[in-house]
Amino acid sequence: MTSLDPTLFEKARSALNYSYSPYSRFPVSCCIKTTTGKYYTGVNIENAAYPLSLCSEAVAISHMVKEGEKKISEIFIIGLGEALCTPCGACRQRIREFADDDTLIHIGDDKGHRATFTLGELLPHSFGPHNLEQSHD
Ligand code: THU
Repeated sequence: MTSLDPTLFEKARSALNYSYSPYSRFPVSCCIKTTTGKYYTGVNIENAAYPLSLCSEAVAISHMVKEGEKKISEIFIIGLGEALCTPCGACRQRIREFADDDTLIHIGDDKGHRATFTLGELLPHSFGPHNLEQSHD
């Protein structure tokens, strides 16, 4: 396996400073690398109306898509604390839309890399664009 691109961690680590998480006090950031070699970062953005809060992965995916990019090669997610900050269920599905079962999801904290999973490990037997490829009309 090729070694982890250090730029992914560096970009996610600098983005962590911009997390807006006054309610949970749980900053999360991430950096997506696309198959074309571009990087898109995201941070969680909370709201006083709690359910309106955005996860860091949703923010990064928004940036990626609005720049015309649609294929995630790897993603590095940073969250603090003892437990690994793996993506929430909704974000696994968001990532799935633009990734494959073998897409790498790296998890770390502000000190560095802690673990790597494939999307297939985190979201097995997923529902995705392939389910809608055939028209049924
Ligand atoms: N959070 C993320 O940004 N990504 C995840 O995948 C897990 C959770 C954020 C949402 C909320 O602002 C804070 O972490 C605590 O749940």
